[in-house]
Amino acid sequence: MMERQEVLNWLREPDEQQLELLWSRADAARRQHVGDAVHLRGLVEISNHCVRKCEYCGLRAPNTGVKRYRMTADEVMDCARLAASLGYGTVVLQSGEDHRLHKAWVADLIRRIKEETPLAVTLSLGERTPDELRAWRAAGADRYLLRFETSNPALYERVHPGRRPHELDRLALLAELHQLGYEVGSGVMIGLPGQTFEDLANDLELFRDLDLDMIGVGPFLPHPDTPLGQLPRPAGNGQQVPNSELMTYKALALARLLCPRANIPSTTALATLNRSSGRELGLTRGANVVMPNLTPVNYRRHYEIYPEKACLYEPPEQCHGGLKQRILALGRTVGVGRGDSPNRLARAVKPGPDAVGKEV
Ligand code: 5AD
Repeated sequence: MMERQEVLNWLREPDEQQLELLWSRADAARRQHVGDAVHLRGLVEISNHCVRKCEYCGLRAPNTGVKRYRMTADEVMDCARLAASLGYGTVVLQSGEDHRLHKAWVADLIRRIKEETPLAVTLSLGERTPDELRAWRAAGADRYLLRFETSNPALYERVHPGRRPHELDRLALLAELHQLGYEVGSGVMIGLPGQTFEDLANDLELFRDLDLDMIGVGPFLPHPDTPLGQLPRPAGNGQQVPNSELMTYKALALARLLCPRANIPSTTALATLNRSSGRELGLTRGANVVMPNLTPVNYRRHYEIYPEKACLYEPPEQCHGGLKQRILALGRTVGVGRGDSPNRLARAVKPGPDAVGKEV
């Protein structure tokens, strides 16, 4: 198992030649534990309404410059059918924290998708109540994504102002999701202002301790209409993690080595930093998943978490053709089926004292 000091050393390693060793180790672990298939998850950004005030995010409630939208269930169904017809195994429903996406509405939508398609359903709808999460799981949702953003509680508080004390924190929600039988995904931004190398090493260790099924890491990209988009970069005291492409690959590769069986996407935020090859490089340095954006183009431009998102105007079919070619050119295959969590499958067969009937 990789020691903490080794993680820190890699995070601080400047020499690209040395880093080749990290990339090749991560790639070997990826091949050994999750294979050559690249699973495609169709992302549908179903609403950009949000009640939160996260200081990094362009969709934060106080940002009045955003044109807000909420897709209809029929529109979402069209996207789900498109995902199925493109051969994807999963549809990911993502939104801001929009309390008008009511419990029953979302549950009905999940049931419709499950009835009409063979897709796995992943939800990424923010911090919702255990009651809602239970209802959606009962309706057939398979997975839930909720990044914890940082393992440093003081930094977490600073970038998430106005949290009410009675609310479950994200770590408690992740435990709840696990209990409910979801495949659980989480992650952090790389180079969030205030994030130190120690913090990032802790984040990576927490991925391992949480035994995550999915891990999403992408660079922090400053959005000019947010408090963190306006700040000058923090003074270079050697502690701040840079929000660079290179640092993102390091975090990806280390996530793979610490959590060898997790599903790890090569994220859109990474592709945004390097449009020509960011996605591919992510796939050769630990990642095994890509999440093509299936949101209708007229909505997509309003889902501006950060500016100048990659693939902003490409219709899904076009995005898809290029993607498949690029996956094959890497010597990889396009995943067939749902691409369920290898981690979970391994956990389910592991005979533990009280594992029976719990994990399956
Ligand atoms: N830059 C990069 N990633 C961001 N996210 C939110 N705002 C930004 C930003 N400015 C990420 C958060 C969130 C996910 C959906 O998008 O980690 O969990």
